[in-house]
Amino acid sequence: MLKRELYVTDDGSNSIYLPEWNEYYHSKKGAVQEAMHVFLDMGMHVSCELARSRATQQFMQSDSEVRKRTPEKLSISILEYGLGTGLNAFLTAQHAPDGVHINYTAVEAYPVTVDEIKMVDYGNKLGDNALYMRMHELAWESPQALTDNFTITKLEQKFQQIDAKEEHDVIYYDVFGPRVQPDLWSIEMIQAAHDALKKDGILVTYCAAGFVRRNMIAAGFTVERLPGPPGKREMLRGRKG
Ligand SMILES: C[S@@+](CC[C@H](N)C(=O)[O-])C[C@H]1O[C@@H](n2cnc3c(N)ncnc32)[C@H](O)[C@@H]1O
Repeated sequence: MLKRELYVTDDGSNSIYLPEWNEYYHSKKGAVQEAMHVFLDMGMHVSCELARSRATQQFMQSDSEVRKRTPEKLSISILEYGLGTGLNAFLTAQHAPDGVHINYTAVEAYPVTVDEIKMVDYGNKLGDNALYMRMHELAWESPQALTDNFTITKLEQKFQQIDAKEEHDVIYYDVFGPRVQPDLWSIEMIQAAHDALKKDGILVTYCAAGFVRRNMIAAGFTVERLPGPPGKREMLRGRKG
């Protein structure tokens, strides 16, 4: 097991540092800023908007009897590669838009310990320690309701075991960087992520490396280079056509 230490990032939020790999769980420029920009703003919110506009279109095209019925609650499904400290999951639960239910699946082979959860202290820092602790206390391997509009399924397994097919609207591809885990950025791994998405689903990642972009294109994504979070020029978003 690799040694894990506390690291305070430039926006004041905590992260975990792996000294043996000289690698971080989040951007050194700001863990919370990165999560909010890359995963929530460029991923979750975009998908919620898409779900809303689809539902509006369907409503407009439906007949008058259908229009009288109470509209169904919208839902989107997010798959996270790397639950880690749970920062992305926690922020997504906190910022899930009204009227949208988020079904969140998080895969993690090396869960953090209770001491590490307390060490990063996102619950207190982000204003809802009860929610953050509850998220970590929920059982693994089955869907668990965290809030009225956020259900989480934590899966203790390797990313290489992911074999979902057309199940998810968004993928948070938050694996360690290519310098330390290049195999997790291979065409095969990205192809499996592409397979896991529904049509029009999106994959967001903090990584902007040229070979990752090319592997995403080879796996079938239409790829956009987007402005990165503070301190990082670019990030990538792929859309499954
Ligand atoms: C960049 S960190 C994820 C950070 C996380 N999203 C957060 O909000 O804290 C990458 C995560 O991938 C996990 N990991 C590394 N290799 C893995 C593998 N082959 N399968 C599953 N998890 C893996 C690590 O334990 C680590 O938690």
